[in-house]
Amino acid sequence: MLEMKEQLKSELSEAKTAEAVEQIRIKYLGRKGIITTLAKNTDFSKLSVEEKKAFGGKLNELKSFAEEALTAAKEMAAASHVAKKSTGLDLTLPGSSGKLGSLHPISLIQMELETIFQGMGFTVVSSPECELEYYNFDAVNLPADHPAREMQDTYWMTNGMLMRTHTSANQVRTMEKMGVPLKAIFPGRCFRNESADMSHENTFYQCEGLMVDENISVANLIAVMKTLLSEIFHRDVTVRLRPGFFPFVEPGFELDLQCIFCSGAGCSTCHGTGWIELIPCGLVHPNVLKFGGVDPEKYSGFAFGVGLTRLAMMKYGIPDIRLFNAGDLRFNEQFPVYI
Ligand code: DAH
Repeated sequence: MLEMKEQLKSELSEAKTAEAVEQIRIKYLGRKGIITTLAKNTDFSKLSVEEKKAFGGKLNELKSFAEEALTAAKEMAAASHVAKKSTGLDLTLPGSSGKLGSLHPISLIQMELETIFQGMGFTVVSSPECELEYYNFDAVNLPADHPAREMQDTYWMTNGMLMRTHTSANQVRTMEKMGVPLKAIFPGRCFRNESADMSHENTFYQCEGLMVDENISVANLIAVMKTLLSEIFHRDVTVRLRPGFFPFVEPGFELDLQCIFCSGAGCSTCHGTGWIELIPCGLVHPNVLKFGGVDPEKYSGFAFGVGLTRLAMMKYGIPDIRLFNAGDLRFNEQFPVYI
């Protein structure tokens, strides 16, 4: 009888339809079925009372086993039939396990910067990517005939607006909106009409910072920049300022970071110079303060523009800027899910 159970089980596992299950039911439990006729075909005269009793018990057990197994198989077959019919899918199949996404390296670096600046009391401000010519150029001391506009060609809308060329476009908007004193950063996407190569893209990310108050000097600028860089790279950093020209700051600087890979000895990353040119910055030009409705006699401030894309390339060792926007999952999946 044990063998019969096994045989029934194996036949049922092959039966995929209700009809096939029914055939098996007839074969075992039908009027002339194997189990039904088991008692008839047994010669009870040769069995003792004990043996008869044991046989009866086992037979009953086999019958109920077969009935249960058949009912279960019938239900399974019906469920899979309904699932297939209603959705075209076999809903009884096991599901495939979901894949966890990861954050884009620009998001990671932006989140990190926001946390660091919030720790220093800066507000994170969102800003428009499609801008008025006024805020992108005129209000940051770049009037229509200024030669520096040449370096920032961009995409123009038919209504005269443009895709902002830098996050500096939000400086005057922020002064208008928040007034002074103010401490804010505005990270975001910028655009330029450039042909792409390993280090140029028409779409990239910057993070602008602006601090305006009474008595703000270059010392405040250096302190904030050093805090930022030492937290990003998790070590003490050495920086230096060189003169740099940007129409919206006076004086303007290029802030260099002593190479973190060779500690200033000279290597391929710093092209043997020991320094990496990293953050353009300066003290906000009085004209820009005036455009923002701020009295330059009373207030002063500093501004800086961090290339988020560039910083991500340095921090994560990404060799080609075009990888950021290529949408290649093999690239994106290498970064952590969260920080
Ligand atoms: N807006 C400049 C650019 O995209 C970067 C920059 C330079 C921003 C100096 C600043 C600054 O705030 O002070 O090239």
